[in-house]
Amino acid sequence: MHEILIGRDLSDQKKYGMKGTGYIAKHIVGQKNEAHVTTPVKIDLARPHIIGLFGKRGQGKSYSMGNIVEEMMLLPEDIKKNIGVIVIDTMGIYWSMKTPNEKDAELLTEWGLKPRGFDVKVTVPKGLTKIYNDDAIPFDATFSMKPSTLGTDDWALSFNLELDSEMGILLQKVMRQMRDKGNYTIDEIIENIKKEEGSDVAKDGLINRYLVAQEWGIFSDDGSSIHDIIKPGQATILDVSHFSQASGGWSVKSLVVGLLARHILNARIKARRMEESESMEGTSKGGHMPITWMLIDEAHQFLPREGMTAASLPLLQWVKIGREPGVSLLLATQMPNKLHQEAISQCDLVISHRLTSSKDIDSLSQIMQSYLKYGISDYFDNLPRVKGAAIILDDNSERLYPIRMRPRMSWHAGGSPIAIKE
Ligand SMILES: Nc1ncnc2c1ncn2[C@@H]1O[C@H](COP(=O)(O)OP(=O)(O)OP(=O)(O)O)[C@@H](O)[C@H]1O
Ligand SMILES: [Mg+2]
Repeated sequence: MHEILIGRDLSDQKKYGMKGTGYIAKHIVGQKNEAHVTTPVKIDLARPHIIGLFGKRGQGKSYSMGNIVEEMMLLPEDIKKNIGVIVIDTMGIYWSMKTPNEKDAELLTEWGLKPRGFDVKVTVPKGLTKIYNDDAIPFDATFSMKPSTLGTDDWALSFNLELDSEMGILLQKVMRQMRDKGNYTIDEIIENIKKEEGSDVAKDGLINRYLVAQEWGIFSDDGSSIHDIIKPGQATILDVSHFSQASGGWSVKSLVVGLLARHILNARIKARRMEESESMEGTSKGGHMPITWMLIDEAHQFLPREGMTAASLPLLQWVKIGREPGVSLLLATQMPNKLHQEAISQCDLVISHRLTSSKDIDSLSQIMQSYLKYGISDYFDNLPRVKGAAIILDDNSERLYPIRMRPRMSWHAGGSPIAIKE
């Protein structure tokens, strides 16, 4: 059967055909009520991409993100072993991917698919396991980080401190001293703040922030290895949802994402050098950090258009230089207009469910205007009113397709609740 392939250029199409692609959707032909689904749409998962996944509330972003993770897990072993996946789960909804989607069994049959669960690795903050145990949410691993892996800017951004404020200056002084120590704990940082010269207000203020940081549940003396979080063929679901209950929830989430992004990129740059020299020598030692995909829900919170978070610079690095070392991003948001301009303009693939705000539609129009026959809003207007309907903009082929995302094989825990029980 004829298939549409997005995200793969012609030379790769010739060389690899449909290898290393995932079945995510069907093409929609006809408009509004007349519309029906036809040709399968497959997405390239073998090369690095920056994918924007947009759509207003409840249109299917988180659901579609799960589809893409499923397809990564369904890749044949020889391809999958070269890829590592991490999902930044801001709502705590992806643990349900382990369970088959029996509730949509009928719909799946229509699409020639069956319900099935996936062996994703649900990873939660080390200090917050009690919450998961109390809520009976299963998890497979915990993560934590060493306080010494954070630089002055990381702390300042997570504490929402201006570096030239009194507290900010104190922070810089203390961090300069800590740097010589190598590995250190938050208690040791606090001890050093006490010894430092400065007003009591600034010292108490900074100590207080560190005491709060200890409650985030992400710090430990040993810290997780990035090689446990990103493993060949593994999809890690990193649940950051419980930080919303901690003070400054989004800054903690950004701190975690920023540090991971930085470590993964560095490890991939190193791995790429080794891969190159192995391929020159004709050897393959393996054991390197795999090509990595990071999928981020609510991405505008991490990489906002205005202002900075602790994740902004590391993610912008992915966006700017990630192609060569092989790191890919999927950025999902309700509000593309609130996402950093650079991230929007570097998207080579956009999957957008319906958008209605003119600002959001305009931010899309800027990307791939040149080859569109009509304004983007016309394409949205013509979509049928079904869940999962979207348009795909493919910069590789310079084409736009109306599509419907396929139903999920694994359970989606993110739908809205209804008061009527069946
Ligand atoms: N492709 C699809 N096929 C069938 N149903 C779908 C599809 N996509 C989404 N849905 C339905 O729509 C509901 C809402 O989707 P989802 O949770 O992904 O919304 P969202 O865009 O992430 O919303 P929010 O912005 O509020 O996070 C899902 O629970 C599911 O029932
Ligand atoms: Mg969502």
